[in-house]
Amino acid sequence: MLKTPDFSLEDKTALITGSTQGLGLVIARAYAASGARVIINSRHAERAAEVVAMLRGEGGQAEAFVHDLADVRGLEQRYARLCQSTGVPDILVNNVGIRIRKPMSEATLDDVVQLINIDLIAAVELSRLAAQAMVAAGRAGRILTLTSIAGELARAGDAIYPVAKQGLAGLVRALAVEYGGQGITSNGIAPGTFATETNAALAADPVKGPVVVGRNPLGRWARPDEIAGAAVFLASPSASYVNGHILVVDGGFSVTF
Ligand SMILES: NC(=O)c1ccc[n+]([C@@H]2O[C@H](COP(=O)([O-])OP(=O)(O)OC[C@H]3O[C@@H](n4cnc5c(N)ncnc54)[C@H](OP(=O)(O)O)[C@@H]3O)[C@@H](O)[C@H]2O)c1
Repeated sequence: MLKTPDFSLEDKTALITGSTQGLGLVIARAYAASGARVIINSRHAERAAEVVAMLRGEGGQAEAFVHDLADVRGLEQRYARLCQSTGVPDILVNNVGIRIRKPMSEATLDDVVQLINIDLIAAVELSRLAAQAMVAAGRAGRILTLTSIAGELARAGDAIYPVAKQGLAGLVRALAVEYGGQGITSNGIAPGTFATETNAALAADPVKGPVVVGRNPLGRWARPDEIAGAAVFLASPSASYVNGHILVVDGGFSVTF
């Protein structure tokens, strides 16, 4: 008889960037509940410590990795130190993503550089470091990158974010073809509209909030916990032959017209 599909992350260590709130925190909790030791990343030592304590209180294994991903050049040294203290992470989730909602005509060069640096270049650099460390340690691994429905589409008034997210879609595929042969898979998740802390103002906006709901075939925002299944699946043994794929989790938003 065929065995029940394996979604366990036992004996794995997973680094999730930006995991003190929102989708990153949901993914960290889901990974911890699936047996992984999770490494919580934040810019703030106190916030990371709070989440680590919460996860340990829930019976999970957690450590902190305090680093501002805007400091891309500092990543190499910090990641090497992390590997020394926790061992080489088996799973990297590139989750951090900021948004500067402006049309191209209003965006400044500083806006462009800040967003591309944090959303795209930091993920490229961390993935490079993570994959190299996995290869050097002779380990199989998983790299998961949070793109967006803006990883395929663009929206008036929000010009820079799709540039970064479509770059991340390229990163997912570039890693998949380069490292697949060494046992490291690379996949993406493209979330639609999730009611996370950062979207609270938009969800509560009396004009824009209902527009989002009206355009979605499921007629609602996603709950943050609805990212968990996709994230666990793509990191688990059940996704062993999934490589270079970007799983859209948007309630059907991007297939309507
Ligand atoms: N929410 C959605 O509907 C949606 C839709 C499509 C795509 N996405 C993508 O999904 C990902 C998560 O979105 P979210 O809404 O959950 O994000 P969020 O609520 O804004 O979460 C931000 C997290 O990232 C951390 N962070 C921010 N800047 C950082 C930096 N420079 N270095 C290290 N950590 C940093 C924050 O931690 P500290 O403040 O503690 O440092 C926090 O834990 C993003 O890539 C986003 O683009 C989200």
